[in-house]
Amino acid sequence: MDKVDVVVIGAGASGLMCAATAGYRGKRVLVLDHSNKAGKKILMSGGGRCNFTNMDASPKHFLSDNPHFCISALRRYSSQDFVDLVDRHGLEYVEKTPGQLFCEHSAKDLLDILLTELEWSGAELKLNTQILSVAFENDQVLIKTNHGDVICESLVIATGGLSIPTMGATGFGYELAKQVGHDVLPTRASLVPITVQPDRKVQLAELSGIACDISATANGVTFQEPMLFTHRGVSGPSILQITNFWQPGEALRINIAPALSLDDLLNVRHNTPKKSFEGFLVNMLPKRLVEVVRAEFPWLTERSAQTSNDQIDSLFHYLSHFDIAPNGTEGYRTAEVTLGGVNTNEVSSKTFESQKQKGLYFIGEVLDVTGWLGGYNFQFAWSSGFCAGQYV
Ligand code: FDA
Repeated sequence: MDKVDVVVIGAGASGLMCAATAGYRGKRVLVLDHSNKAGKKILMSGGGRCNFTNMDASPKHFLSDNPHFCISALRRYSSQDFVDLVDRHGLEYVEKTPGQLFCEHSAKDLLDILLTELEWSGAELKLNTQILSVAFENDQVLIKTNHGDVICESLVIATGGLSIPTMGATGFGYELAKQVGHDVLPTRASLVPITVQPDRKVQLAELSGIACDISATANGVTFQEPMLFTHRGVSGPSILQITNFWQPGEALRINIAPALSLDDLLNVRHNTPKKSFEGFLVNMLPKRLVEVVRAEFPWLTERSAQTSNDQIDSLFHYLSHFDIAPNGTEGYRTAEVTLGGVNTNEVSSKTFESQKQKGLYFIGEVLDVTGWLGGYNFQFAWSSGFCAGQYV
């Protein structure tokens, strides 16, 4: 039977970071993963270029039942700390939108850095390993796997969330947490495209492939970023972001002309009475989208001088309350993250050790900490992995 100091289950972002940190402290560390490859989500993230952090990452970019939980870890291991690490390895990266850092070439470059760190730290990685059972006995943990049994003093659960099951996601972490008496907050797919009602789907399908700047508002939170019409509904940054705050059945407001006020429309009639509203809208919306608006308001092609206040009012309302008829999301199949998870009120924000079971640690996405879109989720994986790695 193998005996090590630390076993980390999950060779993803947080698990690799934690294992290397503990390894550098002289701990004997074994990382186990049932996948045939480490860091699969890192490889597929950011369109293959991994948005590995956000320089603005702060607690306000995270959702959790305990909003204070992430403060300490983000402070003790910040985005700058992670950038310093990748700089030491000479990673080339770009800042796409302010604060969002992506690999210049490929996410594989970043994964290679993590695997190099793992090797330098002396930690061992075993892939294709199924965890059969976990038992806590006399301050030790016995882990049975399909490749034999392991005994350790600290067990770190870094198995992530439920999104993209085909990439190896499982509910293992949640089940183990429940096994030792933890509360697991309800989970839900998030940072995920929204699907629409079947009849609206047919109408919107003709817009498929079009992107435009919109604002999406739900539960008092607004994101003004691009939206993409898809064959199934809508996607793009603003939509993914709002799914952290919206769920099926709730109100979702889409404004397809967020920069436009009612006064702007009235001024069109006042300043350019011979011009049509269609002529005005084509300068701010994609042409195919203007066609959809025109189908609703045939008078759009007439001279604006001929339009009434009521017509202008209803046009403004239509644009600012564009009805996409949402009915759900694409679910875990395409979601980037899982909302909910192991209740952070029962885990130390300093050490990441469970308050229910000595020697058991939870890090990364398995915890009820979910970041916005934009590199925040990886940053929490690095921060929580690093902090736990100092205490296991
Ligand atoms: P992670 O999911 O990385 O790792 C979990 C590991 O546990 C996996 O290797 C898995 O195989 C293993 N595992 C699971 N169950 C197991 C079991 N029963 N036994 C053994 N091993 C098990 N975030 C961001 O900040 N920027 C971005 O650009 C993106 N982009 C992105 C794109 C896509 C398509 C997805 C799906 C996700 C993102 N994310 C993201 C989110 C980000 O990938 C995610 O938050 C982190 O990978 C979470 O890191 P963890 O270490 O917690 O889990």
